Amino acid sequence: QQVLLLNGPNLNLLGTREPQHYGTLTLDRIVSDAQAKADSLGLSLTHVQANAEHQLIEAIHNSDADFIVINPAAYTHTSVALRDALTGVGIPFIEVHLSNVHAREPFRQHSYFSDKAVGVICGLGAQGYQFALVAAAQYLQSANN
Ligand code: DQA
Repeated sequence: QQVLLLNGPNLNLLGTREPQHYGTLTLDRIVSDAQAKADSLGLSLTHVQANAEHQLIEAIHNSDADFIVINPAAYTHTSVALRDALTGVGIPFIEVHLSNVHAREPFRQHSYFSDKAVGVICGLGAQGYQFALVAAAQYLQSANN
């Protein structure tokens, strides 16, 4: 089973970007940890990080994944287009945020994705991606049974 991991704008800066919110792990490290987790779960993982909305949309359109794990970053709060891409292809997804968006500015408390997501994980840092992969594996397993 294939999982597409998508990371939105500014997440390429992880490691040095506002560590009080996002921790100190780099995106490369988060992705290699996710790769190891996916391997252990028997999932094949591909990763795309993009700062541009259209690149994320096209990655969704071109994906043949069974499941998507997405941190839409700032597009969480702005992008009807990215939401429509996910509902358009109909691939089930989990929304992940490193920070607890509900404990931050009011504009971060609305998501264009959450009502369409299988689940939402936030505030648990980089571990959130690991939890999302475990949940994806279970979701796919029960979908196949
Ligand atoms: C984020 C939260 C968003 O509000 C923010 O714009 C990000 C990262 C997170 O992972 O906590 O870029 O998605």
